[in-house]
Amino acid sequence: MSSATANNTTRVFRVVGLPGDGVGPEVYQSACQVLAVMDELFNLPIELDGQLIGGAAVDATGTPLPQATIDACKSADAALLGAVGGPKWDNHPAEQRPELGLLKIRAEFNLFCNLRPIVTHPALQAFSPLRPERLIGVDLMMVRELTGGIYFGKKWRDANQAEDVCRYTRSEIERITRAAGALARQRKGRITMVDKANVLETSRLWREVVSQVLEDEFPDVSLENLLVDAAAMHLLTRAADFDVMLTENLFGDILSDEASMLCGSMGLLPSASLNEDRFGLYEPIHGSAPDIAGQGKANPYAMLLSVAMMLRHSLDRADEADALERSIHQCWDEGILTPDLVPGGCSTARVTEAVCERLKPG
Ligand code: IPM
Ligand code: MG
Repeated sequence: MSSATANNTTRVFRVVGLPGDGVGPEVYQSACQVLAVMDELFNLPIELDGQLIGGAAVDATGTPLPQATIDACKSADAALLGAVGGPKWDNHPAEQRPELGLLKIRAEFNLFCNLRPIVTHPALQAFSPLRPERLIGVDLMMVRELTGGIYFGKKWRDANQAEDVCRYTRSEIERITRAAGALARQRKGRITMVDKANVLETSRLWREVVSQVLEDEFPDVSLENLLVDAAAMHLLTRAADFDVMLTENLFGDILSDEASMLCGSMGLLPSASLNEDRFGLYEPIHGSAPDIAGQGKANPYAMLLSVAMMLRHSLDRADEADALERSIHQCWDEGILTPDLVPGGCSTARVTEAVCERLKPG
């Protein structure tokens, strides 16, 4: 097939862009620029459909996840999100909190499988608060269950009491275990399951189901159980021992922020939230950072690494994902870093430009 024919038949991917709040639109802009350059270089046509979520959506429509956003996602291959939230909406009623937009999109599209890769890079070790010898060889994948547990259980409150119910079903645990098992198989074949089985009934169900699924379907994958309080400590003392860390929604939220400090900055960590049909929501794990919004100094690396995850997991373009990651790592090696890491560091625009330049051959 001539390359002209190949170009003509290249599938156009549909991606919903959700800039959101705070620094969200700035890092989203960086992603758009990189994707445009990647299309020129690698024939990667993406139709970006910008939609509202979070506080921006509350301001424009009164709700953090408008129906138009849901409809757009229904016909898309993936969604790319900047960040949601900010002090401006702190006193809004619960149904108008920006974060609710995120929780709703996770639930609406069954994005039960949240992947947060924690990989240390030699050029960034000095930025971690941990001693360098604790950071050597860290390459772990946090697999966080994202649509169950205490986040989505029954909630109520009166003047003197409040309750959040943590509930998990066998099938919710089975499907996330299968996702973790499949991933572990492509990696070092080890799962560490984190829970609080010495206290919580849901954790005891998790232990039973995880070990059953792995025994029956992934006999080649090894399983270690760790209580969440110990896991919080072991992440600081022996992070390099972990391969896949599998855990429930709330523990995964907390441990992934902690683990991000191994890499140097929250501004460096991407994430993917996937369902069973390969649709995914891709977003940096940092928040909207309202204190630095609008100053052109947000760190776009987490967003650009999220783009790489999108190329790999939802768009089936692993080679292009590798190329983007290589360019990012090259920038790190050359010290092209934003002010969250180095005083007087590069602007968001400069980092974006540098990544684009390094994608180009020669
Ligand atoms: C995350 C965030 C969200 C979560 C918030 C913004 C609702 O902290 O993605 O880790 O708790 O899941
Ligand atoms: Mg979090």
